[in-house]
Amino acid sequence: MFEFDRNNSRAKLLGAAVALLCVSGVAAKSQVFDFGTTPTAEEIAAVDIDAMPDGRGLPAGSGSASAGEAVYGEKCVACHGEDLQGVKGTGGAALIGGRGSIGTEKTKKTVESYWPYASTVFDYVKRAMPFHEPGSLTNDEIYAVTAYILHKGNIIGKDDVMDANSLAKVEMPNKDGFISDPRPDVHNYQ
Ligand code: HEC
Repeated sequence: MFEFDRNNSRAKLLGAAVALLCVSGVAAKSQVFDFGTTPTAEEIAAVDIDAMPDGRGLPAGSGSASAGEAVYGEKCVACHGEDLQGVKGTGGAALIGGRGSIGTEKTKKTVESYWPYASTVFDYVKRAMPFHEPGSLTNDEIYAVTAYILHKGNIIGKDDVMDANSLAKVEMPNKDGFISDPRPDVHNYQ
């Protein structure tokens, strides 16, 4: 008989757990968060990009470092600094410097020292920068500011024009610093 009691209390516990799960399930389904709005098609289009290292996915447009200097001064300098070393307290990262430092005790990860592909700069800035206003730059402005960062990192010349073609041809200093992931399923984006 005491066996029955034990099972019975277990059953009660189980019942309570099931009831709780049901309640939380219902709550999760009907919960309405009081913030955010559904993005419009234009808002999605403003940050929707998949730029590949070989240039696929890069949009039309172009820009050089000379034009990018103005974009940088207006839209980026507050957080990334005049010297592109990042401004303390803003979270803005250093964008240049540290070349050759990866893997040493003084590792400094920047676009110049770490990023293997220049196309990623365009891709990242388009979808994420300026931090407080992603999607606000035109493609020409993004090509220009990308060129400015690459020029300041001594990777391209001041008047080199960046577009879908030329950006894919830029050789980044750390392009050989990565190894391929041999799992077949990670390459199916091609
Ligand atoms: C309001 C501050 C702010 C502004 C303005 C801003 N950024 Fe940033 N930026 C950040 C922060 C914060 C991060 C780090 C984000 C993270 O790690 O998720 C960042 C990261 C980056 C990175 C990646 C650095 C790395 O090595 O990971 C790049 C490139 C970049 N920003 C470029 C730009 C450009 C170009 C502009 C101007 C068009 C810009 N940012 C404007 C705050 C800012």
